[in-house]
Amino acid sequence: MSIVDQTRQGDVLVLTINNPPVNAFSPGVPEGLHAGLDAALADEGVKAVVIIGGGRTFIAGADIKTFDLPREQAPDLRGFIQRLDAFEKPTVAAIHGTALGGGLEVALACNYRVSVKDAQMGLPEVKLGVLPGAGGTQRLPRVVGVQKALEMMLSGNPIRATEARELGLVDEIVEGDLLEGAVAFAREHANIRPLPRVSERRVEGVPPQVFEAARKGIEKTHKGQLSPSFIIDLVEMTTTQPFAVGWDEEARLFMAAKDSPQSRGLRHIFFAERESAKIPGLGKDTPTTDIRKAGIIGAGTMGGGIAMNFLNVGIPVTIVETGQEALDRGLGVIRRNYENSAKKGRMTMEDVEKRMALLTPTLDMNALADADIIIEAVFENMEVKKDIFTRLDAIAKPGAILATNTSTLDVNEIASVTSRPEQVIGLHFFSPANVMRLLEIVRADKTSDSVLATSMALAKRIKKVGVVVGVCDGFVGNRMIHRYGDEARKLVEEGARPEDADAAMHALGLPMGPFEMSDMAGLDVGYLIRQHQAKVRGESKPDGWLDRIVETGRKGQKTGGGIYDYDENRRPRPNADMQRLIEDYRAEKGLQSREITQEEATKRLVYSLVNEGAQILDEGIAQRAGDIDVIYIYGYGFPAYRGGPMQYADEMGLGNVVADLEQYGQTPAPLLRRLAQEGKTFAQYDRERPGV
Ligand code: 3HC
Repeated sequence: MSIVDQTRQGDVLVLTINNPPVNAFSPGVPEGLHAGLDAALADEGVKAVVIIGGGRTFIAGADIKTFDLPREQAPDLRGFIQRLDAFEKPTVAAIHGTALGGGLEVALACNYRVSVKDAQMGLPEVKLGVLPGAGGTQRLPRVVGVQKALEMMLSGNPIRATEARELGLVDEIVEGDLLEGAVAFAREHANIRPLPRVSERRVEGVPPQVFEAARKGIEKTHKGQLSPSFIIDLVEMTTTQPFAVGWDEEARLFMAAKDSPQSRGLRHIFFAERESAKIPGLGKDTPTTDIRKAGIIGAGTMGGGIAMNFLNVGIPVTIVETGQEALDRGLGVIRRNYENSAKKGRMTMEDVEKRMALLTPTLDMNALADADIIIEAVFENMEVKKDIFTRLDAIAKPGAILATNTSTLDVNEIASVTSRPEQVIGLHFFSPANVMRLLEIVRADKTSDSVLATSMALAKRIKKVGVVVGVCDGFVGNRMIHRYGDEARKLVEEGARPEDADAAMHALGLPMGPFEMSDMAGLDVGYLIRQHQAKVRGESKPDGWLDRIVETGRKGQKTGGGIYDYDENRRPRPNADMQRLIEDYRAEKGLQSREITQEEATKRLVYSLVNEGAQILDEGIAQRAGDIDVIYIYGYGFPAYRGGPMQYADEMGLGNVVADLEQYGQTPAPLLRRLAQEGKTFAQYDRERPGV
């Protein structure tokens, strides 16, 4: 088997691409396809050519790993497509699996497209911070129309073959064997001339308002991003310019987008997310258990949200509370959440009832005896958790996974009260647990490989991004966010207003800054942590400006206001009394106020994350810098196009990060300092670590 096999089926030449796992357009593929076209030309007996993917899919796109290669080393997708478009004999793309990006562009340059019913087609380049760069922006509108093409390219989401057939993107759906059907189709169409070429079609009658509306739309959906506006400009060209002009402009804009930090950030996350699913030392053959029934202890906000993840994928849940009232309230919230989804058209009422029917509420913990996994989601108190795990140890069946949703407590200590610490793991969901995609999977000292592998598989099944972390106070995400909170409060002590610190993070693309986030989470949470930590360290009671705000009774959004007031749309408004409290605080402590630029605020906030991240990495609490980035994208709203805090630091240059940290009075973590001295990046550090 070669990378592109040529086989004759009578007068049809079949070119099969064999580049597992997804038949990306990697080095060797264009050479093989060109050889196939050469063979088809050289042989008069060949009347048509079929291009098909071997294995599980048609071409899933350009090879993203080759994006940063020098142009002469990168596979020449555009060159091949140009030849395909002008080819003298009929060509048919036979599609199964996913024809994405460059894959769909190859198909669009064929004269015909046939597919199986469950195939999917799309141009997802926007998700990588680029745009379809091999004719997609010019050909797709010529086939499916400007509106649909914009929708597909701006969302990046694929469509199903049945819809593609209705839109004319697919000429025929093959019911039986794809290759057989494609060859028959090719034979039937072998003598039709002139050959239908998408590039020769015209796009007419599109009102300019379509583009105006699209431009307005991306201000909301893709704020601050480069490639979506390029896509709109290019699609607009299909209505005003000949194909060749749009084709050239597409190449220019593709290169500009590809070489931007935004595309580097998004590509980094694409691979980091896939890497984070791999656990060094844990073989693919590690046995896993099938999770057929789940138990959840606690029907509060977290417990209810966690339950919904299981119900959504059809796993029955038994949910336990200590009192009937709390249980009823919890169930009511779950039902309301589902009904709201139904009102928004995201599910039917039948779906709501189906999910609710999978939920068994109870006050009796013994009802968890047959659960394959039990997740404790009660409030953060070690004694309470230990008591629950002692009882679970007596109730749970052998082999059941015993998980805690703690966000800070020591999972080893929790595991120690059971006779089966190897079955204990931390599953840290992020609030709201039915929405946020991150799941920190906390591997305790004695957690078995099988429990870890099952938890990773479970994360995927309930549509979460699972990232393995080690035990420490706050694990990865919250440990870093504590340092970020410290730095934010310091900024205010030095003269910034809370809204300045928040604006600094909005400028980076985060939906919320540090103080909006604290108001949302509840200011009392951080307050209690600070009090507790001071007590442990034998220090006097913390008395920062934020502690004083909490002591006025303002605890954030849940008490109607905290650092800010909130309007009916939950938009923050500065509160004059709180501003005065801050000023009085500064005066009382003799703190000098100074002007703090947005640039300084942004750097200090992000670098506080980076610095703690480097320390976490050095301690082995996170396996990779890329894992930390995945955690921040999926758990904390860090914009994916920035690639996460560690990738952002790589972009800024670690030497500069160290210099800035020192200038702002923070001590750079040893690992960060070392990498900076060696002129390296976190990405390099990840690549160079054996086994990771
Ligand atoms: N290039 C390089 N590697 C790719 C790739 C690509 N386009 N697509 C997938 N891979 C790799 C993944 O990194 C992964 O590698 P690993 O096993 O070493 O971790 C492996 O293929 C399997 O991928 P998934 O784990 O994602 O497998 P799934 O079955 O879950 O999903 C998929 C398959 C739907 C094809 C998904 O991989 C995907 O969405 N891929 C990206 C598709 C894409 O974005 N295409 C457009 C590329 S840009 C382009 O074409 C530019 C052009 O217009 C010029």
